[in-house]
Amino acid sequence: VTQLKLNVEKCFRRYQNLQHYVEWTDEDAQRVHSSLDLLRPSFVGLIDDFYDEITRQPEAQRAITEGADQIQRLKQTLREWLMELFAGQYDEAYVSRRWRVGLRHVEIGLEQVYTSAALSRLRNRILVALQTAWTGPIVEFLATTYSLNKLLDLDLAIIEDAYQSAYLEQQQRAERLIAVGQMAGGIAHELRNPLNVVKTSIYYLLNVKNPSTEKTIEHLHRIERQVGVADKVITALADFAKLPFPQVRRVHVKSSVTEALELASLPDGIAVRVDVAEDVSGVMADPDQFRIVLTNLLRNASDAMPTGGQLTINASAIEDFVEIDVSDTGIGISRESLTKIMQPLYSTKTRGLGLGLAITRAILEKHDGQLLVTSHEGQGSTFTVRLPSSSLSANGT
Ligand code: HEM
Repeated sequence: VTQLKLNVEKCFRRYQNLQHYVEWTDEDAQRVHSSLDLLRPSFVGLIDDFYDEITRQPEAQRAITEGADQIQRLKQTLREWLMELFAGQYDEAYVSRRWRVGLRHVEIGLEQVYTSAALSRLRNRILVALQTAWTGPIVEFLATTYSLNKLLDLDLAIIEDAYQSAYLEQQQRAERLIAVGQMAGGIAHELRNPLNVVKTSIYYLLNVKNPSTEKTIEHLHRIERQVGVADKVITALADFAKLPFPQVRRVHVKSSVTEALELASLPDGIAVRVDVAEDVSGVMADPDQFRIVLTNLLRNASDAMPTGGQLTINASAIEDFVEIDVSDTGIGISRESLTKIMQPLYSTKTRGLGLGLAITRAILEKHDGQLLVTSHEGQGSTFTVRLPSSSLSANGT
């Protein structure tokens, strides 16, 4: 229901824009309204013609599933549709009803071309009926036909909008399904590898007679490492699942960075420098999600420096935002990869689901923030987190 309500509001705004575009005025509405009495006697003929043509079009006819009774009912709905067209207020309720009519046709599986063709036919018949009944000045007749054409074009636009929204939703659903499928495949792959190693080691421990203590310890360590690998995969997924509900509040930048550094437990070869400017106090963020953002970036920076290097975290206030730069002196990112790294399931690493940066970016966008990146191959990368400063909402909790 909410979804539809949203669409209706959006639709009405768009309808109003289109009214401006076609230069729809109160005079247009008056002309259309005053042609009702002239046209009303023709309604029966117009409606009969409309459905006669549908029965002659096999593709359109297919949408009529209940035979003559349904046609009778449809004739009544078309009559109401015509009445509202000529006597309507063209307000939000009007647009909402018209949009639902469009949606109904999507639901019954009628191809969009048939509603367009049917409306074209209906339009011509209306104009001919008007011409036949007209007795006034020709100038006024022409003005009325222009007004009617504007109105019918706007109605067609609403129907097209309903079709387009439905197609878009269908496409997004299909894309989501593909993404879920790819992710499931990625997860299966990432978990199967460590499990296979664990299985092999357990097999060894259970079946080899009198294994040496050394060998036993080696296998236990291997199991421990692989459980760790599996655990990381699960953590990435759990982070992903936690995403939908950011509970935004004031979060202290420096202590969050310190906490994230502890969590990331970087290897010894990496030197860390943290520089948080005086005027930076906090950002508006969900503390858990902010932590995920920081640990993801720290982990990436660390992964980019397999032989060690310098990790620098700078935070500064820029207007109403805080920018946190996480820079490394690592391998850098190729120009080609740079455009893809934030897509889900894209990874340059031999291990990894490719979710880290996608999660990071998704989190920041939900916070009205941004993730930016600059990189030079062979020299290193800088990821910049932009988040609204908490000084904006000084009274926030
Ligand atoms: C611009 C052209 C058209 C207009 C103005 C129009 C008008 C309407 C209206 C007002 C409704 C009722 C919607 C509701 O349930 O709220 C409706 C439903 C329907 N229309 Fe159309 N229609 C058009 C084109 C077509 C065409 C070409 C077909 C071809 C078969 C068609 C078949 C149907 C069907 C099957 C229903 C559902 C009826 C039901 O609920 O039993 N319509 N139409």
